[in-house]
Amino acid sequence: MSRHSLLLIALTAGALLGPASVCTAQAPAVVTATPLGAGGGAVRGKRLFIRCSACHGISDSAVARIGPNLQGVIGRKAGTLPGYRYSSAMQAAEIVWDEATLDRWLADPAALVPGTAMAFAGLGSADDRRAIIAYLANPQP
Ligand code: HEC
Repeated sequence: MSRHSLLLIALTAGALLGPASVCTAQAPAVVTATPLGAGGGAVRGKRLFIRCSACHGISDSAVARIGPNLQGVIGRKAGTLPGYRYSSAMQAAEIVWDEATLDRWLADPAALVPGTAMAFAGLGSADDRRAIIAYLANPQP
């Protein structure tokens, strides 16, 4: 078979699948390839963070709202931001926030820290959690 007809087959397959399904198939690979804090995931995470911003600020000057300021949260020991009144459950939690602990926290806060005051059911989508964590690492994408 000539290269030309192979190309035609590829083009036809693309046309049959349509642009939408091609995008969906490729999306997870793109997200996985995005290093923590780099542009792509963080930009999506910024949009997703709207769900958190009712309770959380994330900047050097942000004051505590219902929840603590999340600026610099990665690498921070849970329940230790000065000036914020954490639940006793959170103060007692022996957790340092990194990619893995944040993923568990955002999937189901009450499962990781039973008795937490964070009234948030959790994010079911691993992609959404990864994007939000990328945004927490780089809040100005
Ligand atoms: C309804 C309000 C509310 C929403 C919505 C919410 N949080 Fe929270 N969050 C809190 C509260 C309150 C705490 C403190 C929990 C405690 O002391 O037990 C907290 C704690 C945290 C902590 C631990 C911070 C620390 O200093 O140890 C992280 C991380 C966090 N939230 C991330 C998020 C993210 C990301 C989202 C969005 C997906 C989110 N939260 C949505 C209220 C909220």
